[in-house]
This record gives sequence, C-alpha cells and structure tokens, in this order.
Amino acid sequence: MPKPKVFVTRLVHQEALDLVAAETEMEVWPEEAPPSPQVLKEKARDVEGLYTNVADPVDKGLFDVATGLKVVSQIAVGVDNIDVAEATRRAIPVGHTPAVLTKTTADLTFALLMAAARRVAESDRWVRAGKWKVSWHPLSFLGQDIHGATLGIIGLGQIGLEVAKRALGFEMKVLYYDVIRRPEAEEEYGIELVDIATLLRRSDFVTLHTPLTPDTHHLIGEKELAMMKPTAIVVNASRGSVIDRTALYRALRDGVVAGAALDVTEPEPIPPDDPLLTLENALIIPHIGSASVETRRQMALIAAENLLAGLKRQKLRHCVNPEVYQAWGLAP
Ligand code: GLV
Repeated sequence: MPKPKVFVTRLVHQEALDLVAAETEMEVWPEEAPPSPQVLKEKARDVEGLYTNVADPVDKGLFDVATGLKVVSQIAVGVDNIDVAEATRRAIPVGHTPAVLTKTTADLTFALLMAAARRVAESDRWVRAGKWKVSWHPLSFLGQDIHGATLGIIGLGQIGLEVAKRALGFEMKVLYYDVIRRPEAEEEYGIELVDIATLLRRSDFVTLHTPLTPDTHHLIGEKELAMMKPTAIVVNASRGSVIDRTALYRALRDGVVAGAALDVTEPEPIPPDDPLLTLENALIIPHIGSASVETRRQMALIAAENLLAGLKRQKLRHCVNPEVYQAWGLAP
C-alpha cells in the first residue's frame, strides 16, 4: 500500500516530523515565510493530510481543490484561519492543540500585563537609547500598581481561568464576562460575572481571551474603549481582530486609555509603518503566547498524532468538529 501524502506547512520539532514521516510520504515547507495561499492550495491538491498553523488560510477554495483530503491538523488551539463549517460539510476532521498551551499562554498574558503596567519595554528602550543620565528620579517611569487592581477577563475559557488564578496571587479583584457562566469558578476563586459594560468601566486591566468569531470581531472598538478608565490597560493574547486597531490607536494616542499590550495584531505581521508602532504606550510582541520550548514541542507532537489518527479514520485526540465522526461510522 502506498503511504498517504501529507503536506506540513512549516518546520516543526524534528521529533514530530519523524513521527509523521514514519507513516506518510511527507513534504515539509522549508522556508520561514509561509507558502502563499496559491502554493498552499497547489500542495493541498494531492494530499490526504495537511499539518497547518495559524498563518495558513484553509478556506473553501482550498477544500474545493483538495478532493482527497482526509484531515487538517493545526498546531494551535485557535482555528479561525480554517473554514471549519466547510470541513465539517466534507466530513474532514480539524485537529488542534488545546490544554497543553493553556498555562503557557496565561503566563505570557501576565508578562504582558506586568510589562505594560510597569512600562518595562518602554524603559528598556530608553536605557538603550542612552537616555539614562541621572541616577534615580522620583518621577521617572511611573506606572500602574498590579497588586490590588481590578482585572476584567473577557472570555473565561481555559486560558482566561488560568489568568484569573495568576491574578489572585497578585491580590487582584477579578471580574469576568462570558456568554457561558462558570459558577464553580466563581465559587472556587471568588471571581465575579458582570456584563461587558460594567467590566470595562470597573477594570484597571482588561484582558481578552475569546476565540475570533463573527461575534467577537472588533468586540473592542471606539465605544468600548471610551467606557474604560483613562488609566486602564488593554491586554490581548487572543486574536488581533478582536480589537479594532484604528480605534485602539486613537484611544492610546488621545489618552482615552493608558496602554495596550498585544501579543496579536491585525494583520500579522504588523506592517512596519503601522501607527501603533509609533506609540510608547503600545507594547507589541509577535504572537508568542504558547512559545515555550516544552509547550511548542508538545503542540508539535499532538498535531502529529491528530494528523496520523485522521489519516487512519480514527478519532483525533483533540478535534474541533467531532460531528464528522458520524460520517465515518464512529460515535462523536
Ligand atoms: C495560537 O495563537 C493558538 O491559537 O494556539
């Protein structure tokens, strides 16, 4: 029997590639930059498995040409780059890598929050620019206290909850807004569900942990930013498009809010001439929420496992559309 062909859209840990290579005829895209959407479509045309990441558009056009495709396995938790509805219509499972990255992403969220609150990146730039000329000044680089502040979490999924737990260690008051209530988390951690307007008005830090969907696209725009305290800091380690970047730029420029710390932007990469990059109160890092050595290794292995399971028409360890199993004669 010939081995199934698969296309891996970027280099990942060798251990994961070895697992895939043992059971497939594997092609790996060797370049740092992603294949163009056209090249991705061409590659998808004659493979049974695709191993993708957040920068790869897996849309209806791709599914139309990829007639032999049996599985899409993404090395990420978020799958907003994939037309999951279309995959489901075609009984193609979409694998992803939740859980393993939850705490790592929550750690990074807290790093962003703390760095923005205490102006860490900004003062580092200042030192490197040779501007540290007097030893210590009582009015130099004053930031916001983290301890005792109120944190508003929009989206209390796994990552949001881990951020809440970290906040309690800093003696913060934690509010959350979500369409799904988590009474057990409220009870266990003393966190409070509020409506989004109340959260925006009361929080010193607002952190976003929603998936990107039509409902959360530009969830934070001019109106929402205007509700926040002028001292508030917005943190985003979810998806760039959850915030309207033009509104955010204006709010940061005009002092409507004090700062923003972004692991994600709209688009990615952020263009070098984006006005946000001219602002000292915008901290921007290149989508590294899950980027610890061990977590990325685990993600690469889980994505390999998901890919191989899908090729064999077995259940994936983590599948975003398990309803496809019915078409395979398996219980969802
Ligand atoms: C990264 O952004 C992910 O969704 O895992």
